[in-house]
Amino acid sequence: MAEMKCVGVIGAGQMGSGIAQLAATNGLDVWLMDADRDALSRATAAISSSVQRFVSKGQISKEVGDDAMRRLRLTTNIQDLSSADIIVEAIVESEDIKKKLFKDLDGLAKSSAILASNTSSISITRLASATKRPTQVIGMHFMNPPPIMKLVEIIRGADTSEETFIATKSLAERFGKTTVCSQDYAGFIVNRILMPMINEAFHTLYTGVATKEDIDSGMKYGTNQPMGPLELADLIGLDVCLSIMKVLHEGLGDSKYAPCPLLVQYVDAGRLGRKRGLGVYDYRKKPVTPSP
Ligand code: NAI
Repeated sequence: MAEMKCVGVIGAGQMGSGIAQLAATNGLDVWLMDADRDALSRATAAISSSVQRFVSKGQISKEVGDDAMRRLRLTTNIQDLSSADIIVEAIVESEDIKKKLFKDLDGLAKSSAILASNTSSISITRLASATKRPTQVIGMHFMNPPPIMKLVEIIRGADTSEETFIATKSLAERFGKTTVCSQDYAGFIVNRILMPMINEAFHTLYTGVATKEDIDSGMKYGTNQPMGPLELADLIGLDVCLSIMKVLHEGLGDSKYAPCPLLVQYVDAGRLGRKRGLGVYDYRKKPVTPSP
């Protein structure tokens, strides 16, 4: 496969903006598309300040930072992505919405383009079934935040070709990431293990075993994790965590994956985590650091 020059990213939320930043700072032209104009404005501000932080810490040169901002183009028109060599989708975690998007992308992307999903848990094989190019559909699962976290999990759908796999892995490596390969089963590797831990942290809070601060401190200092599970859930987004638990529950068919009622209630109440200023913790007043 020819060297990739242009990356399309769909969804300019916390993941899509980070993926676009990675691609631009690694010398690729980027189209970042979102249906919501405000999301694009927020993404530009977030990418610009993140790139400046990388420059001020000496992690990239000022020239690379300036070049990245020039390479980044924003759009609400999906047709603009027709020149991309790979399109990475990072929209809402809903199978129906993603399938419709993949069908649309199949109709507009160039015939050689790879269609990748940053889904946390949805079946790549089922997303691929919405297209006429299932050999060129793959999971490219970045961790949050993409410019900082070292892993990209690559998920092979039932029909993903070796060529698509190698090209996607090479792109992740060009971004400086370590890759792991997962077969296409619910939750893949990372979320299959991480999300039940987060769900169990909600049960621990729900059943009154301990305070949120003590649950987070217990896991942070007791198991050497950089963040406690409830803080991490707030960073990921409680809506995203709930969607993943539902996929695990349905896909693996075991009641141990049933979402904790407290997680469901928080999402029902609009407490989605940091992105809404309120989740398990309240970020509207002051930054919360769980006590040691
Ligand atoms: P987000 O809610 O921050 O951003 C989603 C963006 O997609 C929004 O700006 C929304 O306007 C846009 N959007 C929704 N439907 C669209 C459509 N049909 N066309 C164009 N734009 C559309 O979500 P986030 O957290 O960035 O997650 C995105 C994806 O990445 C999800 O599949 C999620 O499971 C996955 N993911 C999330 C992680 C996290 O920690 N939040 C980690 C790894 C993967």
